[in-house]
Amino acid sequence: MTAAFRNGRRGIYGLTGGAAAEKRLHTARVYDIIYKVFRKGGAKTGDKMNAIELKDVHFSYSRDGSGEEAVKGVTLSIEEGSFVALVGHNGSGKSTLARLLNGLLTPTNGQVTVYGVDTRDEDRIFDVRSRVGMVFQNPDNQMIATNVADDIAFGPENLGVEREEIIRRVDWALSKVGMLEYKNGTPFKLSGGQKQRLAIAGVLAIKPRVMVLDEATAMLDPKGRDEVMAVTRQLNRDEGMTVVHITHYMDEALGADRLIVMNDGAIAADGRPKEVFAQYGLLRKIKLGVPFATNVAVALHSAGLDVDPHIATEEELLEQICRLK
Ligand SMILES: Nc1ncnc2c1ncn2[C@@H]1O[C@H](COP(=O)(O)OP(=O)(O)O)[C@@H](O)[C@H]1O
Ligand SMILES: [Mg+2]
Repeated sequence: MTAAFRNGRRGIYGLTGGAAAEKRLHTARVYDIIYKVFRKGGAKTGDKMNAIELKDVHFSYSRDGSGEEAVKGVTLSIEEGSFVALVGHNGSGKSTLARLLNGLLTPTNGQVTVYGVDTRDEDRIFDVRSRVGMVFQNPDNQMIATNVADDIAFGPENLGVEREEIIRRVDWALSKVGMLEYKNGTPFKLSGGQKQRLAIAGVLAIKPRVMVLDEATAMLDPKGRDEVMAVTRQLNRDEGMTVVHITHYMDEALGADRLIVMNDGAIAADGRPKEVFAQYGLLRKIKLGVPFATNVAVALHSAGLDVDPHIATEEELLEQICRLK
């Protein structure tokens, strides 16, 4: 990254400068310690911790809060370590909700808390943004530097992380997404899937606890989609990363712990993917697709065959068909 670039931009957090960053880093460390105590069960909390909580959240893009709301009263808890898929039509409010999760937008009414911190608390916005990383749709818009390593270093540099630690994080983040060998290359020559993995590594380098992917697979070919999904699942499984994956592809929602369907700014369905896909009538009413296998199973069931319509994967469909006499 060139010096001119660094000076010409205030950074993704809008925060630069030594003392302030150090103070914030200190606060973040204190939270890390509290968090570790919770995870080890040192504090008796009983239930699993919620990473993010939304209470009756409304959001309107019009400055005075009038006009139609993009988010209309969403109440939601996202459990630490869970993999949540979020689907819905264009314009149903998914991206608005995503931006509310990390304080890029704040509610017009209601409350969003990230690890207990209200996203409207301006003194703590640094904590919120460093805990919830975002990966967006267009891989080309997310690259910052002409060199892969510099690109990854950008986030932690803005957080005031010390040099040695940045170097460690760059290698760690690139290895987590299987891109270490590209460290000294240029991001612009990579494939779409590789660019999105790089974007994920850039987010990882700020060590967030939650990763929100807003249609991060939408512009990729099937191979790129598979790469991104594999990396995302592995981060969830091995690193305990909480994932909110917004997607158009119902098939990508299959492996999630939870599937949330948004319609017209509100939650239309919420549950285990299979339970949600079983609400076939509702999904049809809001003109949302279901996985290919569910469609076939429902059609066979409607045709009078003894096939369970509440299935979602092609393996299950095959099993159902093989059982037919
Ligand atoms: N920057 C914006 N200014 C004004 N209205 C917006 C803006 N972004 C989105 N909207 C409106 O908010 C609603 C929800 O949009 P969005 O959250 O982008 O939905 P989705 O991501 O599900 O397609 C839509 O009606 C959209 O037109
Ligand atoms: Mg969107």
